[in-house]
Amino acid sequence: MNFKGRSFLKLLDYTPEEIEYLINLSARLKAEKKQGIAHRHLVGKNIALIFEKTSTRTRCAFEVAGADLGMHPVYLDSQGSQIGKKESIADTARVLGGMFDGIEYRGYGQELVEELAKHAGVPVWNGLTNEFHPTQILADFLTIKEQFGYLKGIKLVYMGDARYNMGNSLMVGCAKMGMHIVLCSNKKYFPDSELVKTCKEIAKQTGAIIELSENPMEAVKGAKVIYTDVWVSMGEPDSVWQERISDLTPYRVTKTLMENADKDCVFMHCLPAFHDLKTAIGKTIYEKYGIDCMEVTDEVFESRASVVFSEAENRMHTIKAVMLATLSDKEF
Ligand code: CP
Ligand code: NVA
Repeated sequence: MNFKGRSFLKLLDYTPEEIEYLINLSARLKAEKKQGIAHRHLVGKNIALIFEKTSTRTRCAFEVAGADLGMHPVYLDSQGSQIGKKESIADTARVLGGMFDGIEYRGYGQELVEELAKHAGVPVWNGLTNEFHPTQILADFLTIKEQFGYLKGIKLVYMGDARYNMGNSLMVGCAKMGMHIVLCSNKKYFPDSELVKTCKEIAKQTGAIIELSENPMEAVKGAKVIYTDVWVSMGEPDSVWQERISDLTPYRVTKTLMENADKDCVFMHCLPAFHDLKTAIGKTIYEKYGIDCMEVTDEVFESRASVVFSEAENRMHTIKAVMLATLSDKEF
């Protein structure tokens, strides 16, 4: 395994063995942390965390994991830096690459994080783009492994907006790890056909099954994981809400849907989720459209099958593994 100096931009760039290694390293780091064993392997290093979109989990995961490894993280948001307004990505990359040992980037198009990585000269980690959210998938797969003990052959059904970062990344991840993924949605929201083709090619090597479906009750039969994400992602205009609600309501994760899956089926969500009226957006949507949840009912979200908070915690352990593997001279 050779991770040193590499960027982590999308799972397509990594082999199944490398992905498995990162998941296993995450589990080891998690166990060490639970036992109070320090792992300050990267003392003296500095990392920049660029967030052009807001974040709770990803930002905190990078900051806490960086500190646990002995590093100094510096947070840059879209307002407080010159990025994009007065300075190009290529120039920013060369400036930050001279001061930092690694750079996290959350932003819009995937081409921006790729451009940053091309010019930085240090590892760049994708903290979410419109197209991909690769560190989220490592956390999801660690969570699935903790639940079931293995990944290969697990049937995961992704419900809802399957054409954005989460649908795309889960499809790539499942293809790489030999899993069975069904992307279930209105066909307007199916992933890009070129990416589906690429994943089906990967599946030929790994034994994965990649399916698209418009029928939720059929799709979830035998599923061990039902996964969903918001219907409107960061950066999308408010004007799409009405259409998304009418197109995607049949793909909401409900108790009936969960009951139609495998008896051990777990519910997963990258979060944040719209499952009640305790958020400003939740309240606005209720006032405008009269619905009290969107992609998942509160009943499922709060049920015993829901593993969303373990999944959220695992963001930190998996991001730690990515930084350790790509920054350290030693192999762990
Ligand atoms: N899942 C996830 O990326 O959450 P944040 O937007 O809070 O980072
Ligand atoms: N699809 C969501 C994922 C959030 C983690 C978004 O891009 O807003």
